[in-house]
Amino acid sequence: MGWLEGDVAVVTGAGSGLGRALVDRFVAEGARVVAFDRSAERVSAVEAQHRDTVVGVVGDVTVPADNEVAVAQAISSFGRLDVFVGNAGLFDYGARLVDTPIEALAHGFDELFAVNVKGYLLGVKAAAEALGESGGSVVLTASLASRNAGVGGAVYTASKHAVVGLVEQLALELAPTVRVNAVAPGFMRTDIRGPGALGQADRTLASMPDLDELARVVLPLAVLPEPAAYTGHYVQLASRANAAATTGTVVDCDGGFSVRGMPLPPAP
Ligand SMILES: NC(=O)c1ccc[n+]([C@@H]2O[C@H](COP(=O)([O-])OP(=O)(O)OC[C@H]3O[C@@H](n4cnc5c(N)ncnc54)[C@H](O)[C@@H]3O)[C@@H](O)[C@H]2O)c1
Repeated sequence: MGWLEGDVAVVTGAGSGLGRALVDRFVAEGARVVAFDRSAERVSAVEAQHRDTVVGVVGDVTVPADNEVAVAQAISSFGRLDVFVGNAGLFDYGARLVDTPIEALAHGFDELFAVNVKGYLLGVKAAAEALGESGGSVVLTASLASRNAGVGGAVYTASKHAVVGLVEQLALELAPTVRVNAVAPGFMRTDIRGPGALGQADRTLASMPDLDELARVVLPLAVLPEPAAYTGHYVQLASRANAAATTGTVVDCDGGFSVRGMPLPPAP
């Protein structure tokens, strides 16, 4: 029996990368899932793979009504909502303040924060009543950049630090019925895009050839994990049986990056 047997989840950014891996894992753990993504093609692909257990919603997490549609779909298709996973996100590819024209910075900030922060806020708002009725929980995707500078640029780093603020504030506001937590993954080779205003709409981490080498150099665990490697933390936090006392936390799974400090000299 899975850890999420009988549960119903909404996962945002479910069409690719980590979100796609989360859908697969939640289904394997016994959940039924609303896969919410702005890409119709990706939503169809997820539905096709999980015909009886996944229903897709094509929409934009920055639009209030689209978040309400995703939650309403969970209720109409599966009768309840137990877990809201806020996960859709944009990166900024380390755009440096001094190198970015001020207009691009302003628009890039609006674009990225609208997805990474407002998208989570609106999703939790839309889901809160249904989660209150089921005694469910929220799990948000934070990042290595939620605690560390130098992974992204100022815009991405600020947005992922803001996710920690959302977790802490909403954990208080939604207690005692709804738990709110986050998972902070390290690097993954995914299709993640950047803001169009920063000229990054077509850029992807998947196309960076040196990611494996970067992981080997900067991560004490020295490997670049697949998105699936992070999904167990979401399952545990979502599971009433396994995380009943846990709210307001961020689970760091960064390959040891945060505790690295000074690189050790090579072994003799
Ligand atoms: N890739 C990494 O190395 C990494 C590291 C740490 C954290 N993260 C976080 O993981 C999360 C998932 O990113 P990923 O790497 O799997 O990226 P991805 O691009 O592979 O997947 C993100 C999905 O979100 C969808 N999406 C984007 N904007 C949307 C919107 N406005 N409305 C609806 N859907 C939208 C995209 O269509 C895509 O299918 C993000 O929050 C990201 O910040 C990624």
